[in-house]
Amino acid sequence: MKQKQIQKSGTASGSTQSRVSDHFSVNAVAVAFSGNCLDLLREIPDKAIQLVVTSPPYNIGKEYERKLDLDTYIAQQAEIIRECSRVLSDTGSICWQVGNHVDKGKIVPLDAVLYPIFRDLGLVMRNRIVWHFEHGLHCSRRLSGRYETIIWFTRDTKDYVFNLDPIRVPQKYPGKKHFKGPKAGEYSCNPLGKNPGDVWDIPNVKSNHVEKTEHPCQFPVELIERLVLSMTHEGDWVLDPFMGVGSAVVAAVRHGRRGAGAEIVKRYAEIARDRIDLAMSGKLPVRPMGRPKYDPQAAGNKLTQSPWDSDAKTDAQLRLLQAVADYEV
Ligand SMILES: C[S@@+](CC[C@H](N)C(=O)[O-])C[C@H]1O[C@@H](n2cnc3c(N)ncnc32)[C@H](O)[C@@H]1O
Repeated sequence: MKQKQIQKSGTASGSTQSRVSDHFSVNAVAVAFSGNCLDLLREIPDKAIQLVVTSPPYNIGKEYERKLDLDTYIAQQAEIIRECSRVLSDTGSICWQVGNHVDKGKIVPLDAVLYPIFRDLGLVMRNRIVWHFEHGLHCSRRLSGRYETIIWFTRDTKDYVFNLDPIRVPQKYPGKKHFKGPKAGEYSCNPLGKNPGDVWDIPNVKSNHVEKTEHPCQFPVELIERLVLSMTHEGDWVLDPFMGVGSAVVAAVRHGRRGAGAEIVKRYAEIARDRIDLAMSGKLPVRPMGRPKYDPQAAGNKLTQSPWDSDAKTDAQLRLLQAVADYEV
């Protein structure tokens, strides 16, 4: 029903005119605001948003940020988070995706320092999702960082929206049956799949990713699709105050939700608008949700063979070596 209303309020499919608005209006379908997120937030009525999902700058001196002292950074984040809480619906969610702030080799986990801001606004944490990925900088004085987190908050209510079924993943043992009791012999798993858990292994967007743009750290769309599908209904608003190239809004419009975002760098805001437009007409290439990760060894990629390992072992040899190791005392 809401989905039909959304399609009506946009221009006809295939039109060259953009269906992406510059400013927020409750009747819009998608908004790409070029400017400071606080200015976009001021345009949004109280409780209008069902899901706020974002990845703010980490204050590490990326090309789109000016490095601030940590207290100033936290105070700026607090002001934006307060506004996000104001626009959040009573059943809505805020998902803040962060990594580490790094200063002269010392790391500060941003979820830990931002947590009190959410708590002091009366929000409660529902999950701290670990997003694991394979690619990133190689560190020599500490372990290379291969995860970031998504901290998920709602209001202190039992009525927050959470739909598990659209994000279930395949069961490991779908053929498993109850072996005793009244259901003995019946399949024991949920046929729709299992809960994906709170550790998500999703490729980050690096050079050969189908969604790669010139932005240095964009969300993979599938990461946000899980949040959109489980925490919103069709027609609801999804907001990304630090939109970058618009991946969160793309995830929203791909599933019949409305999406709004702000981006301070004009060039990124333009790319966001183009991507959202393409997504609305079903033409934006994205990595599909649930596609298994590329395994270069299984795919026979020759680069997986080590040039330094002159006596490369076969699987059978490795199993024998393993057995020896198991029995040695
Ligand atoms: C970590 S990136 C987010 C990338 C985004 N998730 C994507 O998929 O493209 C943070 C973005 O916030 C933007 N930004 C920084 N301060 C901002 C502000 N006050 N208002 C709006 N955007 C801001 C930066 O230019 C940067 O593109």
